Amino acid sequence: MLIDIVLLITAYLVGSISTAVVVCKMMGLPDPRQQGSGNPGATNVLRMSGKKPAALTLAGDFLKGTLPVVLAAVAGRSPETMALCGLAAFLGHLYPVFFGFKGGKGVATGLGVLLAWSWLGLLATGATWLIVAFLFRFSSLAALTSFLLAPIYMVLFGAPTALVLGMAAITALTYWRHRSNIRNLLNGTEGKIGTPKS
Ligand code: G3P
Repeated sequence: MLIDIVLLITAYLVGSISTAVVVCKMMGLPDPRQQGSGNPGATNVLRMSGKKPAALTLAGDFLKGTLPVVLAAVAGRSPETMALCGLAAFLGHLYPVFFGFKGGKGVATGLGVLLAWSWLGLLATGATWLIVAFLFRFSSLAALTSFLLAPIYMVLFGAPTALVLGMAAITALTYWRHRSNIRNLLNGTEGKIGTPKS
């Protein structure tokens, strides 16, 4: 029990490291929280500062979702603990203790968690993201569509119920964090991938 609690706290603290803010600060780039959509995530870093910092942000945010769950798996913990560790890392990204609880929208971190929960689920979800992004050029629409399907893919690939429920929770939180994007998509003002917005 104690080890589960330590793993959970570690997952939340790892998730709380805002890769976008750290990468932009280290590269002398503008703070993504003050630019574009104001979201500390790879899409906004790409929009405002280019491909290299965006790729680093994507990689860091993805890994901080994967590693805490892998740690729980290596420690031989149950699917329930693995589900909670993934959720804790995801919540750390959304509500980071190191950044005034103002974090990102969770797409890269959610995908990183999904890799550790169900790599086949990640392949299907990632492919869905790429297809929607290629067709429509909206990062948010790609995220909303692929995350809606992610728990269904996990069921199809036989993932444990605890992990499917964890993904359903991540999907619900992702929709909550994309409220402004959903409004913009509906009224036709959402920015396309890579396009600076005022
Ligand atoms: O991954 C976040 C993306 O779905 C939306 O980001 O900056 O366009 O609000 P942004």
